[in-house]
Amino acid sequence: MKKILALTMAVAMSLSLAACGGGNNSANSTPAASSNPPAASGSQGGSSADASTPASFTTVESGKLHMSTNAEFPPYEMLDDSGAPIGIDVEVAAAIAQKLGLELVVDDMGFDAALLAVQNGQSDIAMAGITVREDRLAVMDFTDSYATGVQVVIVKEGSDVTMDNLGEKMIGTQLGTTGYIYASDTPENGGYGEDHVIGYETGAVAVQALVKEQVDAVIIDNLPAQEYVKANAAAGLTILEGAWVEENYAIGLQKGNAELLNAVNGALNELKADGTFQGIVDKYITAD
Ligand code: ARG
Repeated sequence: MKKILALTMAVAMSLSLAACGGGNNSANSTPAASSNPPAASGSQGGSSADASTPASFTTVESGKLHMSTNAEFPPYEMLDDSGAPIGIDVEVAAAIAQKLGLELVVDDMGFDAALLAVQNGQSDIAMAGITVREDRLAVMDFTDSYATGVQVVIVKEGSDVTMDNLGEKMIGTQLGTTGYIYASDTPENGGYGEDHVIGYETGAVAVQALVKEQVDAVIIDNLPAQEYVKANAAAGLTILEGAWVEENYAIGLQKGNAELLNAVNGALNELKADGTFQGIVDKYITAD
């Protein structure tokens, strides 16, 4: 893991980010050729991020932006029929990479692993519909939020499960996700206790367990929930009325990598401002 070293060295150089106003890198026009001398670094000191100064971030692999994800979370990330990663996060990450003059590389793995990869400097960004939480903020940095989600409950149509009797039921979730974290919490904290929750490797597997009636309900983010209900139409699944707190999704980065955080955040905000971001969302979220 030679790259970790390079990254760690770069991190050591952190300069005061706030001063730079985030939206650096003249990401419009043609930053591709000139900017990012990644691992080789060079001019990291140049803090003044006025629009003409190329950003001086480093990435795990020169010229690449590695995104760790768990492509089991439609419409944010999933695999197409040929096994290629697609989805809102994937396309937004590709657009960010393009703005930074980098080539996106998607590293698909388990959800927990995707969070760890960025913390350990094995990926540059983690993008997986990741909810910003205090405990995650303690171990990684996040960009500005780019979406909201809520945890919802999927049940079999006609079942007797309600929002109020979940504590007597078996609940399936994806391991490591906020659905798992909330549901397995103690009743005093609004959860149902670990004995009532099974953590599956993916949301899809949790939903299959529901289809086979191995669990009574699945708690998962709302958009994937809708996708899973649609994809399993024959099994007759439905989403209960009501939801838990709203969550904010953001892009995770290794803690302390201020240059890359600024560059990615700047690119993200440009994509929001120029409509590219909404265009990607609209492509995947169709009202029907
Ligand atoms: N928003 C939830 C969380 O951050 C679930 C994210 C799951 N994402 C995925 N790609 N499987 O915990």
